Amino acid sequence: MLIESGLGIAITGSGSALPTATIDNHRLVELVETSDEWITTRTGIHQRRLATPQESLSALATQAASAAIEMARITPTDLDLIILATSTPDDLFGSACQIQTQLGASRAVAFDITAACSGFVFGLVTAAQFIRTGVYQNVLLIGADILSRWVDWTDRSTCVLFGDGAGAVVLQAHSSDRLLGFELRSDGTQNNCLNLSYQPQPKELIPGVSIGKGTYAPITMNGKEVYRFAVQKVPEAIEKALFRGNKSVDEIDWLILHQANQRILDAVALRLNIPAHKVISNMARYGNTSAASIPIALDEAVRQGKIQPDDIIATAGFGAGLTWGAAIFQWGR
Ligand code: ACO
Repeated sequence: MLIESGLGIAITGSGSALPTATIDNHRLVELVETSDEWITTRTGIHQRRLATPQESLSALATQAASAAIEMARITPTDLDLIILATSTPDDLFGSACQIQTQLGASRAVAFDITAACSGFVFGLVTAAQFIRTGVYQNVLLIGADILSRWVDWTDRSTCVLFGDGAGAVVLQAHSSDRLLGFELRSDGTQNNCLNLSYQPQPKELIPGVSIGKGTYAPITMNGKEVYRFAVQKVPEAIEKALFRGNKSVDEIDWLILHQANQRILDAVALRLNIPAHKVISNMARYGNTSAASIPIALDEAVRQGKIQPDDIIATAGFGAGLTWGAAIFQWGR
């Protein structure tokens, strides 16, 4: 195992995992009044993967994590910390510890964070702080979601958008800091644009003592507002992260945005004047996989040989909260 000294960070491995079941737009016509033409032209999505009842979030996450660990050329027992970014854990108390056990990462401390579709970028910055302070050397970050569990499959305005999956990266202490800049933001005043809210039903336990016993309501979204927000805020966040990293837009080799909608990717790239050949997009095949979308896209581009060591990547997540964030980093050791 390579242990570098210093308080810098390098992202040294990536991995991804997707459920096997593929549902294309034509099959959704069996569920809601829609068409392949509407979904394709409005979103760029052609198909998505959906987890079966037997495919757990922790199993998908473990598969993605194993591939990232292997690429980083470390072993699970080298890991000091595991962060799982998810909004859909198998267990509301958190799923990171199950992943720790499935990996055999006995030394690592593990916990979940939730920031919806911004979860991977928020997790990246969180992981980086533990390395920069010298506390930990090897950190596994996973973005994973099974939103199909919480989609309203009778709501055509949301059910066509989402897919399931997991992606992971390994961050390691490094002599130079390859996380060049970041910007994280939240705006709770717009929280009602995108929700997966708990719906309590009053239940009287004993006279005078009531609790709210219920479940989570399916996803609701004001698509137009989220679209407007993303197209305005994401370029600003990327510009701030670039400024902090002392980099210019021209120096970006690859733009990896949260894969929500091809039109959002195109609009953000246009605003930043980034040519289309630098924009990584795989939503045609996977839809919006929430916290998993950025690490899946990153991993595919690395394994296809598109992303090369030292390439400069601008990434940005955005979604419920509302939350958004950008990070600029250089790939590899
Ligand atoms: N098939 C056919 N027609 C549909 C469908 C569908 N699947 N969905 C909606 N429509 C109809 C609407 O009912 C509406 O009809 P009407 O004019 O008769 O009322 C019409 O299409 C237009 O609907 P809009 O909602 O205005 O469509 P829009 O062009 O805004 O596209 C979309 C909707 C694709 C959701 C877009 O707004 C979008 O991508 N928003 C951003 C979503 C996003 O990025 N989310 C990321 C965060 S996810 C997270 O954090 C978990």
